[in-house]
Amino acid sequence: MTFVSPCCRVALDVLTCPRCRTTYTEHAGIAVLVDPAFVKTAGFEVNDRRYQNGAVPWAYDRQAPEVQKYSVLTETVVSLLPSRASAVADVGCSLGLLSQHLLSHCDDVTALDLSPSAVARVKERLGPRVSAAAASATALPLPDASLDVVVMSDGLVSWSLGDAGKLTAVREAERVLKPGGHAVFMDYVTPSRHHELIEPVKAVFGIERMLYTHDRLWYVTESMVRVLKGTAVHTFFSESLGWSKALKKVSRLLGPAGSKHFGAVVQKPPAVTGTAAPRT
Ligand SMILES: C[S@@+](CC[C@H](N)C(=O)[O-])C[C@H]1O[C@@H](n2cnc3c(N)ncnc32)[C@H](O)[C@@H]1O
Ligand SMILES: [Zn+2]
Repeated sequence: MTFVSPCCRVALDVLTCPRCRTTYTEHAGIAVLVDPAFVKTAGFEVNDRRYQNGAVPWAYDRQAPEVQKYSVLTETVVSLLPSRASAVADVGCSLGLLSQHLLSHCDDVTALDLSPSAVARVKERLGPRVSAAAASATALPLPDASLDVVVMSDGLVSWSLGDAGKLTAVREAERVLKPGGHAVFMDYVTPSRHHELIEPVKAVFGIERMLYTHDRLWYVTESMVRVLKGTAVHTFFSESLGWSKALKKVSRLLGPAGSKHFGAVVQKPPAVTGTAAPRT
C-alpha cells in the first residue's frame, strides 16, 4: 500500500504533504501519519504509553473470548476477500494479531494504529509483508477506493472519539473502500450500548449482517473469579477454549444481549456497470 498524506490525501514527498506542507515524523522507522498538533497532546502520548517498553496491554492471544473473537474476525474477513491479491486494512491493529492471521490469506495487508510504538512492534514482528503506519481512524492515510476490506475492531466505541469522531471514522472506512468492498466493525460493549456502534455505522452504510460472539456469560463469570487472578484456577478459566465454548452455548440463548463483542459487516455499493439497453 502506498500511503498518502492524511491531510490532503496526496502522495507524500518523503514525509511532507506537497499540497499543504504539513510535515509528519517517524518513530523507529514507522511513519507517524497523524496530525502533528495531535501528536503533541497528552491524549496521544497516554495511548502510546500502553505499548512502550515492550508492554502487552491486552492478552489477545491467550484470553479465550479474545482468541475466539480473532477467529470470528479472521473467518469473516477471509470470506469477504475477492482474491489473495485483495487489499485489506486492520485499523487499530494493536500488536498486529489480526494482520498476522490475515497474511496467511492475503498478500496486501495494511496495519494501522494510533500508537507508533505498537506499529513499530508489528513491523518488527511481521516484516516487509505488511504495510504499517501510525494513523488515526478519523484520517486514514490511504487513497480513495483502495481497499477490498477494512476492519475497525475495538473499535469505534472503544476509541473515545465522540459522536462526530465516530461518524468521521465510518466515513473514512467508506472512502477508502473500493465500490463493492466491505467493512467490518466490531466492539466490546455492554448490550445496552450496542447502539453506540450501530448508529454511526447505519448513518453511512446499510448493514449486511451482524456478528455476535456470545461471550457475555464468560465476562460475567470471569468477574466473579477475578479475585483468584494469578492462580491456576483463574488461568484455566481465562484460557480454556472448551469452557468458553460451553458458556457460549448458554449466552446464545440470550440473543443479541448475550454478546459483549459484537459487530456489523457492511458493504459499499458496487459500481454500476454498463448502461441499460435502449428501448426499441
Ligand atoms: C483495544 S485495542 C483493539 C485491538 C484490535 N483491533 C482488536 O480488536 O483486538 C484498541 C487499539 O486502537 C488504537 N487506537 C486508539 N485510538 C485510535 C484511533 N483514533 N485510530 C486508530 N487506532 C486507535 C489503540 O492504540 C489500540 O492499539
Ligand atoms: Zn496536506
